[in-house]
Amino acid sequence: MEIQTDFLVLGSGIAGLCFAIKASATGTVAVVTKKEKIESNTNYSQGGIAAVTGEHDSFASHIRDTLECGDGLCSKDIVRMVVTEGPERTRELITWGVEFTRGEIYASEFDLGKEGGHSHRRVLHADDQTGREIERALIEKAGDQKNITIYENHFAVNLICESHLRELPEGAEDTCLGAYVFDTMNNYVHTFRARFVMLATGGSGKVYLITTNPDIATGDGIAMAYRAGTEISNMEFIQFHPTCLYHPEAKSFLISEALRGEGGILRLKNGTPFMERYHPMKDLAPRDIVARAIDAELKKTGDDHVLLDMSHRSRQFLKKRFPAIYGTCLQFGIDMAVDAIPVAPAAHYQCGGVAINAFGETNIRRLFACGEVACSGLHGANRLASNSLLEAVVIAHRAYSRVCSMADAGGHDHLSIPPWNPGGATPSDESVLVSHNWEEIRLCMSNYVGIVRSDKRLERAWRRIDLICQEINEYYWNFTITADLLELRNLAAVAKIIIECARMRKESRGLHYNIDYPERDDINWRKDTAVMKGR
Ligand code: SIN
Repeated sequence: MEIQTDFLVLGSGIAGLCFAIKASATGTVAVVTKKEKIESNTNYSQGGIAAVTGEHDSFASHIRDTLECGDGLCSKDIVRMVVTEGPERTRELITWGVEFTRGEIYASEFDLGKEGGHSHRRVLHADDQTGREIERALIEKAGDQKNITIYENHFAVNLICESHLRELPEGAEDTCLGAYVFDTMNNYVHTFRARFVMLATGGSGKVYLITTNPDIATGDGIAMAYRAGTEISNMEFIQFHPTCLYHPEAKSFLISEALRGEGGILRLKNGTPFMERYHPMKDLAPRDIVARAIDAELKKTGDDHVLLDMSHRSRQFLKKRFPAIYGTCLQFGIDMAVDAIPVAPAAHYQCGGVAINAFGETNIRRLFACGEVACSGLHGANRLASNSLLEAVVIAHRAYSRVCSMADAGGHDHLSIPPWNPGGATPSDESVLVSHNWEEIRLCMSNYVGIVRSDKRLERAWRRIDLICQEINEYYWNFTITADLLELRNLAAVAKIIIECARMRKESRGLHYNIDYPERDDINWRKDTAVMKGR
């Protein structure tokens, strides 16, 4: 079936929903999400959204912190734009119903959190479940817009571009016309035709064995955009969050950096604090430095985790400020008012992505990208904590303003889009291949493309992942698609892109640390890496 809409939004996190809500003022919007609408990376964000609202804070300070954290690779213009436009966008979220935690003394003021790399308290939060509160309000708001239809359990398979339908003259710009979308409940691939497509599918944490990300984070948007011919930048910069709960039964539970913002101290298992040996900001140093310090200490001691000590804070404070973390720890037998929390680094955020300009535009006309899937230049080589939600709301707004100014939005309506062609595919009788390859990719990426890399490790990873990609490709064309197979194909493609970018960068900077080039090399490498299909 062909479904026609003015705007096709892929993803239902903060980026996708903010854009959808705005776009619904102008036309019909189809929001496509591969699971339930609430299931997005945004939903799991604990810390909050960084914005200058405090009396003693300033744009200059937020800009400086972002640039410093980005280790010489942020785009200064984008940083200035996101930081200065951020407060207005966060006010908009509040008018849309998001309830950030208010101060103890003055309810008119917000309680501002602090996280690594920030020199001021500037993180608006909703206790320790900010993402969940934002998602709740946005879903409610989107539900009120009669122009928005949300398609749950619909998995975007491939973008449809003009170049797929007819040959374009040499050097001509391609145009995005929609996407093929797999209805996972009814096993049917629909054609969605749209005037504008917004890619807001989030990140790719599942490429690694240990991640703070939910199961949906399989890099679908990156892989799809790559196949369609967009430029992908800086994928070597995978942020490892220093503190994921380390417990055999706790699956990917994040211990927010906001705990260290409230004085939490990282200690070795024998109780010794160690961050003072690594950075003057100690436990609140930028994330790349803290994660690498933990990694180094674990290698030295042979331990599998370190400890985060919050025992200097009262039980009453911990319960009130961090109710979800307090409750989860207790569930696993850890009383954080008394016991130090066992933690280890885990893949958390993809700082690179589909290259976009200040309006969320990609190199394919009418294809926009926003949120973790995109690379605007804000994060550089290492994202400052809580800057990602801010980036999402600012770019979603700008993308919408850009769309409004594009007078010629049509011009391709006469082109007919063929329905999805399943070829000669038959149902698979070897699903075990999917699970084996899935495990192998994640193990390989964790062993060879983690916090510390080397040329040899990257080479090894490249050979293995390249082989797996070939295998999956063969399998993909022979068997009927399933959600598992689509995710596996995307995961493998993203793993390959990460390695490709990491192999290019012959220096160490921010989140990319290669022991063969341990220094930052501004002469040769103060630039983004970029990959593009067929280039
Ligand atoms: C955290 O709460 O530590 C995560 C916040 C972020 O990744 O920005």
